[in-house]
Amino acid sequence: MRIDDALIWAQFALVNSDSALLDAQVLLAFVLQKETVYLLTWPEEDLAVAQKEQFEALILQRINGVPVAHLTGIREFWSLPLKVNNSTLIPRPDTEVLVEAALNIVAADAKILDLGTGTGAIILALASELPNASCTGIDFSDKAVNLAKENAQQLNIKNVQFKQSNWFENITGQFDLIVSNPPYIDKQDDHLKQGDLRFEPLSALVSEQEGLADIQLIAQQAPQYLAGGGFLLIEHGYKQAVAVSDILHNLHYQQIKTIKDYGGNDRVTVALFNHSKQNEA
Ligand SMILES: C[S@@+](CC[C@H](N)C(=O)[O-])C[C@H]1O[C@@H](n2cnc3c(N)ncnc32)[C@H](O)[C@@H]1O
Repeated sequence: MRIDDALIWAQFALVNSDSALLDAQVLLAFVLQKETVYLLTWPEEDLAVAQKEQFEALILQRINGVPVAHLTGIREFWSLPLKVNNSTLIPRPDTEVLVEAALNIVAADAKILDLGTGTGAIILALASELPNASCTGIDFSDKAVNLAKENAQQLNIKNVQFKQSNWFENITGQFDLIVSNPPYIDKQDDHLKQGDLRFEPLSALVSEQEGLADIQLIAQQAPQYLAGGGFLLIEHGYKQAVAVSDILHNLHYQQIKTIKDYGGNDRVTVALFNHSKQNEA
């Protein structure tokens, strides 16, 4: 089978996917161990029998909903190729908004903490942009911590350390910036039954109190770990901006601001915590 014929077949097979061509291209490039541009450059090239069989098997799994990132084991985030697996969330493009926002407020040599680091996506992006920053990522899941460590090693990013912690439990010291993309989906949310979310662990997705329990806990405890005038940056659901801003306001954070994602939805809220101002209040 030729490359172009394989892609046409796969698009038909993936008729129910709204990203059929892209899925097919990524999976075929993965089988051939090439960049996707190779498929456009050499459409007439024949697949070897083993390659054809591997491609067909992957397309079959994709038809059953398995995320492309789980099939290839890789997802690019902030142009960093990250290993992914079923221990944590597949990094989403919208989370890059949080990275951009962090880079706009943080000093080059800042101390940064990422809570619920998963693959390490956020903190590895920040560490790669800020080689003089001192970065820490924590996750509740040992498997996720190991994955993040592997990613740091593979990308040769040295100014980051990862450890297991239930939010702040194993954290000491103070940070200029605390970032988090915590679980924030309500357990009744129908999105949990759709798309990639079906294959990701609920521990990475779901939080009590209509999705706000972990955000509340992080916002409550963060001031103890924020240096004076330090920032907290939290990703949240697109309908949670007001609730998150209220949580931060009630805890005496200042300069509270919500930032939209690339689809125009409220996605990240940033706030400053000033210990002296809080004492005056
Ligand atoms: C939404 S995922 C975010 C992963 C990654 N930061 C990203 O943006 O792609 C949430 C992460 O929080 C972790 N997590 C959940 N509860 C936690 C807790 N109590 N303490 C620390 N991490 C937790 C999960 O294991 C998961 O990796």
